[in-house]
Amino acid sequence: MHPDEIKKLNNELYNASAEEILKRVLALFGNKIALSSSLGAEDQVLTDMVLKINPNARIFTLDTGRLFPETYDLIDRTSKKYKTSIEVFFPNNEKVQEMVNAKGINLFYESVDNRKLCCHIRKIEPLQRAFASLDAWICGLRASQSVTRIDIGVVEWDSNNNLVKVNPLAKWTEQQVWDYIKEHKVPYNVLHDKGFPSIGCQPCTRAIMHGEDVRAGRWWWENPESKECGLHKK
Ligand code: ADX
Ligand code: SF4
Repeated sequence: MHPDEIKKLNNELYNASAEEILKRVLALFGNKIALSSSLGAEDQVLTDMVLKINPNARIFTLDTGRLFPETYDLIDRTSKKYKTSIEVFFPNNEKVQEMVNAKGINLFYESVDNRKLCCHIRKIEPLQRAFASLDAWICGLRASQSVTRIDIGVVEWDSNNNLVKVNPLAKWTEQQVWDYIKEHKVPYNVLHDKGFPSIGCQPCTRAIMHGEDVRAGRWWWENPESKECGLHKK
């Protein structure tokens, strides 16, 4: 897609509802667009919306091998409720094996470089394989989630990955996410009721305390500025 067209689409959809944004991009990209779901609250909202628009819409998830049991349970519950199959991408076994044998099973606590290596092998490389069949991806990013996400657009060119990125919930608040989940009885991760607003891999996510930032429990031992796994770097 030409940069001018992306700009035009972003302007057109800037004040549209999340459903309107999804309708437009699903029609535009057909089977070359997919929702990238971590099974987080935002992604569950998008799953509900996308499948109500098109029951055959594509949804994929990256199974790093280190997810919470509650997340696996939600993959299963969601697939059954919506009678859909969420495509699962796994990391390359040889690369995981080599990394773990060289640096240890919990290498990520030792340095930001180790953590980024693990995220690269367990998330980014599988994501790149998912992109092979895509022209656009849909994500659950919200601007108010963190300092690294303040300036996200609704439709943008993802120059790291060379495809279009759509963030239908860019302007949503956390409250709107939960209102939607309750109103539409959307299945969600039981960990959200136990102090986990943002859920990633089990060893890299902890519960937050009252008043803490929603992403404070992700890679909690690092500075807020480094807290992106590479999926959404600028
Ligand atoms: S992360 O980069 O810190 O892990 P976060 O958990 O906030 O991201 O999720 C932001 C968006 O990235 C999600 O809404 C989803 O679109 C995508 N995403 C994150 N983790 C995964 C995953 N494991 N599989 C697929 N998509 C993911
Ligand atoms: Fe590895 Fe942690 Fe990144 Fe998951 S979040 S891929 S366990 S470093």
